[in-house]
Amino acid sequence: MTTVFAPMASTYETPPAHLDPPTAADLVGPSLKQVEAVIHDLPDVEPDGLRQAVEVILNSGGKRIRPTIALLVAGMLGVDPPDSNAVHLAGAVEMLHTATLVHDDLIDGSLMRRGAATLNAAWTPAATVLTGDFLFAYAAKLASQANSVEAMSIFADTLCVMVAGELRQGFSDWETRSTHDDYLRRIYAKTASMFVLATTAMASVCGASARQTEALREFGREFGMGFQIIDDILDFTGEQRVVGKPVGSDLRRGLITLPTLRFAETHASDPDLVCALRGECDRATYDRLIDRIRRSDAIEASRREAAGAGQRAIQALGVFPESAHRAALFGLVDEYARRVV
Ligand code: IPE
Ligand code: IPE
Ligand code: MG
Ligand code: MG
Repeated sequence: MTTVFAPMASTYETPPAHLDPPTAADLVGPSLKQVEAVIHDLPDVEPDGLRQAVEVILNSGGKRIRPTIALLVAGMLGVDPPDSNAVHLAGAVEMLHTATLVHDDLIDGSLMRRGAATLNAAWTPAATVLTGDFLFAYAAKLASQANSVEAMSIFADTLCVMVAGELRQGFSDWETRSTHDDYLRRIYAKTASMFVLATTAMASVCGASARQTEALREFGREFGMGFQIIDDILDFTGEQRVVGKPVGSDLRRGLITLPTLRFAETHASDPDLVCALRGECDRATYDRLIDRIRRSDAIEASRREAAGAGQRAIQALGVFPESAHRAALFGLVDEYARRVV
């Protein structure tokens, strides 16, 4: 055997310092394509309009952050490339997310998502609800194809948490909604719980240990909390043209999010704020208040809170040895904590 290649091979074990480490996209790009294939592999259904509506939503340019996280977790757990179970689980999470968006936009009365008209902008509420239901069912089908009863159970629990959280929000009074604790509960239910699904159901599919699963639960929770805080900031600071969905709408709809809570700490008896917290302002007052919150320290304070959640997410992964997949998860957390559009 020639020894010519031995020294050369060893030089490739540690990438030269000038080469950037692989990004999430580098690592999971090919497996995300497999995820796309399974989520587009819809059952033969009539009417044609249902299939077309689903295709339009799936092709409308979502960031695919949840399956990206799930696939990186699989890689970090040594299932690389991801097997069919992991790919179906990642697809199930994205499909569940898609279903919740369809219902969320109907509930919120939002007419734009990902830069395009929402389904509820064109269809009746009944048709929109039913399309969302179809997507929930398809998400469950994909989850079942991950061949893990435990993952399926986590999937169902997550849906229960999300639905109960949305109902609780609808039934709660203004005082409850104006507390930080209530905010954290709400954003866990609507967003972080699905990040936890992406990480812990994948842990189950990949045979992770109890310690690894707990670390991944913490990671998903903190990443998801930070992700929703940033989304809530962008509702104040973003531009509809860039974020692709209505902005400045949370407060008008009576949704008290972190920027408003932080603003309230220093403006407790501000008349604009008092009427907004009770959901009783006229349009001009909302315009004025949203603009004041946008230009206040509350935005930076909220960003710090999102960054803190990101830090805790990164710390949670300390139980895993260094790897390209772990580094890419760190990079993803960092990218989203800094997100400005
Ligand atoms: C939107 O999620 C709903 C939130 C939890 C804020 P994303 O920002 O991941 O939406 P898409 O899939 O990229 O459009
Ligand atoms: C996330 O919250 C909603 C879901 C869980 C679907 P938002 O209501 O803030 O999401 P956007 O801003 O409409 O995307
Ligand atoms: Mg919404
Ligand atoms: Mg939002």
